[in-house]
Parts: sequence; structure tokens; C-alpha cells
Amino acid sequence: MGKSYLDNLVGVFGHPVAENPTVVMIEAAFHAAGMENWRYLTIEIPPEHLAEAMKAVTTLNMKGINLTMPHKVEVLRHLDEISEAADKIGAVNTVVNRSGKLFGENTDGKGFLESLRKDGGIDPKNKRAVVLGAGGAGRAICIELALAGCRHITVVNRSANRGEELARRIEEKTSARADFMALTPGFAVPENTDIFVQATSIGLYPDTGAKPDIEYDSILPSMTVCDVIPNPPHTEFLTEAERRGAPTLDGMGMLVYQGTIGFRLWTGKEASVDAMKSALQREFGVAD
Ligand SMILES: NC(=O)c1ccc[n+]([C@@H]2O[C@H](COP(=O)([O-])OP(=O)(O)OC[C@H]3O[C@@H](n4cnc5c(N)ncnc54)[C@H](OP(=O)(O)O)[C@@H]3O)[C@@H](O)[C@H]2O)c1
Repeated sequence: MGKSYLDNLVGVFGHPVAENPTVVMIEAAFHAAGMENWRYLTIEIPPEHLAEAMKAVTTLNMKGINLTMPHKVEVLRHLDEISEAADKIGAVNTVVNRSGKLFGENTDGKGFLESLRKDGGIDPKNKRAVVLGAGGAGRAICIELALAGCRHITVVNRSANRGEELARRIEEKTSARADFMALTPGFAVPENTDIFVQATSIGLYPDTGAKPDIEYDSILPSMTVCDVIPNPPHTEFLTEAERRGAPTLDGMGMLVYQGTIGFRLWTGKEASVDAMKSALQREFGVAD
């Protein structure tokens, strides 16, 4: 089969989507695996065109598609089947075209868990977690932590209604216990916390000096402290945690692992974590 024959198309639909970095890491993984007739396309789709765009996935015989803002919830209406976790999270970021039937999965929380296990050596079973943020990333992480056996999750969020809704969702959909605390200046992390996750968008490029307004002296060396921000991978939040002697995990690990899960679902092959990480580091201008 000639290299110019591209029957293996995947990509991402978003709005706006131009800055989405996924193409860089997935194309690096295709290249590392010698999969020269695969392509990842970054496609701008406004909300009013999502239905047609999802039809096009099967019409063009694409192998699958990622969804990013603002499509992760709306896409549920256009799928034939979704995973149990995606159903509990209430959002999908990865769709697989299975012989014309569209299957939805959510890889954000799964990527976080893989980074926690592989890079952090932490098994969430019976652990106590505190998660800052109740948006898409916070929701996926909380549900996956709970499904992985986390005993208790405290959701901490600026707007109470979103945070309380997530704490309720965790208790309704999983066997973990959950509560809500307001994200107010001086918020102190309870000292029995095992896993402390920053899942708000605070600190994302170009706002790189920003960090959540919390009591950083409440972070203990016994806590594993994680940030979802992939760019820059080394955030002010993680710097503060390191100063208190806590082991840390950055958002680039989560991004790469969630990409490897999508890659596996679409291709049936394992992606090169090293190739994906190096490509992202080059893209974000950070040293290896
Ligand atoms: N590493 C990865 O693989 C990965 C995957 C997905 C997302 N992410 C990152 O995760 C971050 C969040 O994404 P998302 O999809 O969850 O966004 P989202 O749905 O818009 O949620 C944003 C969250 O951040 C909170 N927040 C934003 N600005 C705040 C501020 N100034 N003070 C206090 N809270 C603030 C929001 O609180 P309110 O509810 O009060 O508004 C909400 O909880 C983004 O930076 C994204 O890049 C990383």
C-alpha cells in the first residue's frame, strides 16, 4: 500500500482547537511505530456542526476521534455505545469507530491513574484523596479514583454548586464516600490525605505564575501531590509541594498516558511513551 493512501485517519474536534497539542504526541507515536499511513487531524468544529462532524467520522471511515472543549458532553447524543466509566463521568473525550458504530470512552481520568501507578508507584485502593476543581478534568479524575477503590474523596471547588454536584455524583455512582469543601484562601489540606490533586485550570500557559490560593504549609511529605496542567509541566503549585517534601506528578504524564490509551483503542498497538513525551517537551519548549 502506497504511503499516499491514508485509510487510517484519527483526530480531534474542538472549538477553538488550534492550540491543542495532541497531534504532536500522537503523530510522534505513529512515526516511532513506523505507522506511516496514519494521520491525526486537528479540526475546528463549532457546536452547531458537531452532529454532522460525528456522522463524517463513519462516512470517511475514520478510525476514531478525540473531543475537546466544548464537545465532551454534547457528543454523548451522537454515540452508539459508551464505556461504564464515561457514563458515570458524563463525558467522552475519545471515540472509536467500530465497523460503523461509535463507541465513547473517557481517557482523562484513566491517564491520570496510569501516571499515578506507573510514575508515582501509588495504588489508589483504600486511599484518601483531595481534588481541587470540579470541571471536566476533576470529574474524570474523581470518578476513576473512586472506581479504582479510593476510600474517600474531598472535592474542593470555587463554585459550590459544581463541587457539591460532583461529590453527590461520586457517592451515587461509586462505592467511595465523598464530601465537598469550598476553595477559599487559606484552604488547608486535611493531614490524613494520601493523594492531593490540582485539577483546576490555574497555572496553565500563558498564566504560568498563578497557583491556587491555599495554605501550602498543610502539604505533608506523606502526600502524593499531582497537577493536571501539562504546559508548563513544572507549575508553581508543584514547586510549593516539593518545598514541603512531597513527591509530585505533573500533568504531562497524565496527558501522555491518556494519549496512549486512545492510541491503543484506535490502533490495537502500544504507543511509545518516550517518543510522545519528547515531542511534547519540544512543543512546550521544556528540557528533557
Ligand atoms: N493533563 C491532561 O491530560 C489534562 C486533561 C484534561 C484537562 N487538563 C487540564 O485541566 C485543566 C482543567 O480543565 P477542565 O476541562 O476541567 O476545565 P473546566 O471544565 O473549565 O473546569 C475548570 C475548573 O477550574 C476551576 N477554576 C478555573 N479558574 C479558577 C480560579 N481562578 N480560581 C479557582 N478555581 C478556578 C473551575 O472552578 P469553578 O467551577 O468555580 O468555575 C473548575 O473547577 C485545564 O488546564 C486543562 O489543560 C489536563
